[in-house]
Amino acid sequence: MQVNLSSAWRIGPVEIPTRVVLAPMAGVSVQAFRRQGRRFGAGLVCSEMVSCAGLEHRNERTLGYLRIASDEHPLAVQIFGSNPATMAEAARMVEDAGADLIDINFGCPVKKVTKTGAGATLLEDPDRAEAIVRAVSRAVSVPVTVKMRRGLENGSRACLALGPRLVDAGAASLTLHPRSARQMYTGEADHSLTAELVELVDVPVVASGDITSRARAQVVLATTGAEAVMVGRAAQGNPWAIREIAGESRGDPAREEVVAELLLFVRETVRELGERRATSFLKKFYGWYLGSGRFPRAFKQELTQLETLAQVEERLLSKAPGAAFLLARLEQEHAPAAETELDLPISIYGGG
Ligand SMILES: Cc1cc2nc3c(=O)[nH]c(=O)nc-3n(C[C@H](O)[C@H](O)[C@H](O)COP(=O)(O)O)c2cc1C
Repeated sequence: MQVNLSSAWRIGPVEIPTRVVLAPMAGVSVQAFRRQGRRFGAGLVCSEMVSCAGLEHRNERTLGYLRIASDEHPLAVQIFGSNPATMAEAARMVEDAGADLIDINFGCPVKKVTKTGAGATLLEDPDRAEAIVRAVSRAVSVPVTVKMRRGLENGSRACLALGPRLVDAGAASLTLHPRSARQMYTGEADHSLTAELVELVDVPVVASGDITSRARAQVVLATTGAEAVMVGRAAQGNPWAIREIAGESRGDPAREEVVAELLLFVRETVRELGERRATSFLKKFYGWYLGSGRFPRAFKQELTQLETLAQVEERLLSKAPGAAFLLARLEQEHAPAAETELDLPISIYGGG
């Protein structure tokens, strides 16, 4: 049976207008990325993982992740940590910042995170994982969701033992990226586990991993019974993939459209992170936007060597002069949206 990807579904009281969820990605999922994702048809967008210890210590950069614009909703903010009480306190701050959902990270395979007992480590520390979900669910009134990998080691089925326990503890939805932590991003996501998880729990399951086209999304939804698909790497520098997967494909974008979207992204990121941080943050995006044969490799490299973003803008417009008009239109139609006022004792606005 074909699932209509542009139909609505729910996590608790939160209505999500399409079956495409934009993945949380550290170093990628800034507000500009999330707003763009919503504009291209993602029904739900997620912040990158936010450290609960950073929130506890009121770290300025960490608090910056709590900036939420009015046109991002519905939005999940993802937190990570290993202490139930600290996670509960972080969740309260995230709820106050205006998140519609609190997502808990039980999947991060990076050593810096796993060695603290957080992220994927919790897949094999079920009592603690359950205590975290219970503490967070009790602390907030918005739905709490969990994103998992399959387990730590290749072939692990830890997620299947843990999933139902997390639902009993209060999780309103589970997202599964069925690779092991050891696999990182190698091999393939084994969505037969997603199908097994769907059978075991009575909350919506989101399938994450290797969703790169509408055809793939349809197969995964049909064979797993998942409620929605999550799109990560395929959307990096390619919001058109989201549109295609959500079912509104208008074919490949023209060069001018690609450049206009990239320039809008550059400008929004500067507003969000400040010029200095944005300059290095953006370098990886040039390859993503301009790759796949859209522009010659040498041009992408040239952009990463330029010192200022004004130079980047000038070079891009010289290659696609028609983009200036499209950019002006995009800026007019998608002016920066109002942000939730945060009652926090620091100046996190204006980047830096
Ligand atoms: C650069 C990068 C950063 C990521 N950061 C996070 C993160 O902060 N939290 C999380 O739960 N998953 C994170 N992931 C995993 C993705 O959300 C997703 O589950 C995974 O990439 C598989 O989906 P894909 O094949 O569509 O990329 C990250 C993935 C990438 C590539």
